[in-house]
Amino acid sequence: MPSISEKGRSMPPSPIRKLVHYAEEAKRKGIKVYHLNIGQPDIKTPEVAIEALKNLNINILEYTHSAGNESYRRKLSDYYRSIGIGIDYTNILITTGGSEAVLFALMTCVNPGEEVITPEPFYANYNGFATAAGIKIIPITSSIKNDFALPPIKEIEKKITDKTKGIIICNPNNPTGYLYSKEELFIIRDIIKKHDIFLFSDEVYREFCYDRAEHYSAMLLDGIEQNVIMLDSVSKRYSACGIRIGAIVTRNYEVLGTALKFAQARLSPPGLGQIVAEASLDTPAEYFRSVNREYTMRRNFLVEALNKIPGVYCPKPRGAFYTVVGLPVDDADRFAQWLLEEFEYKKQTVMIAPASGFYSTPGLGQNEARIAYVLNIDDLKNAVEVLHEALKVYPGRTMH
Ligand SMILES: Cc1ncc(COP(=O)(O)O)c(C=O)c1O
Repeated sequence: MPSISEKGRSMPPSPIRKLVHYAEEAKRKGIKVYHLNIGQPDIKTPEVAIEALKNLNINILEYTHSAGNESYRRKLSDYYRSIGIGIDYTNILITTGGSEAVLFALMTCVNPGEEVITPEPFYANYNGFATAAGIKIIPITSSIKNDFALPPIKEIEKKITDKTKGIIICNPNNPTGYLYSKEELFIIRDIIKKHDIFLFSDEVYREFCYDRAEHYSAMLLDGIEQNVIMLDSVSKRYSACGIRIGAIVTRNYEVLGTALKFAQARLSPPGLGQIVAEASLDTPAEYFRSVNREYTMRRNFLVEALNKIPGVYCPKPRGAFYTVVGLPVDDADRFAQWLLEEFEYKKQTVMIAPASGFYSTPGLGQNEARIAYVLNIDDLKNAVEVLHEALKVYPGRTMH
């Protein structure tokens, strides 16, 4: 039998993949599993988007322009301008989800063997995209001890070598929910400028900022206009993960022109998805206000309830809908499996994402887990109760 590729072999599987089997087994046994592990929101997609789908008036499901429909790109650039990002439609390339935006951006800007730096814990799929592009992710560790703030500038600069091609930030952050301040972004800007490297700024959670905190886009940073590549998606903004529409946004036309060649090879981003995404841009402001209120309530509940469990520490993130919690357990991977395989409380259990998969430094995140607050408040209450009961009896419990 012919062998598969080295690259294929080295592609990292999803860090929670091995737990899926245990979750399915638990469900087969009649146990209700609360999914605190995933980023699929239960929030309804805006009505304008659903209506656009229902009222489709097309005869041919055709390819679109490789860079995306001009009408959509024009309207999307209006949206960016409305939030202070001065660009026009020629600065936008529409992609198949934010996922393809990350992959195209990396393949466009970084040679195989070169490095990009990112604060860890980080969105685990960056590992997959980096492997696909043949590049190396160099982590700088942020710590739960200071709620995952940007590591000091010294630590970042120490990692810069002649192979460094850029920095990836995710703001607000998945998995930590950390929202970078303007000052932190200025620090990153100075490094980018000094070393003349790229800044890949993943801003797919831009709309999810709490406590009146404002999101500051990397596209607003002065002096590095040609270095910044913003990665975006409609998945979270409009609770529309399934339509697979994202974007690369940059003022660097060489980057766009090169990314377009990758885009031409895959012909077109989803046509139906673009119609829905274009319609979504008319979502009323009240939709976002009510989503924000809902997530603020869930976060407040979750953080308070988790911090009441002895030995648990949960920072209070100001963005996205995740938090990384410290757990009084020997090994969060083992704990997550035990929850599904051996534990139940009133015929219920929870699925969490062990944080080790979000770190690339071996051994880190061993007693941490990412928890997503994408469930309604009643389910969240039950889930936290189950977690509390579980920690009372887990054999590998430690006292922190
Ligand atoms: C940080 C981050 N970036 C990018 C993506 C990709 O999203 P999509 O491909 O659905 O647009 C996700 C999805 O969860 C994410 O969390």
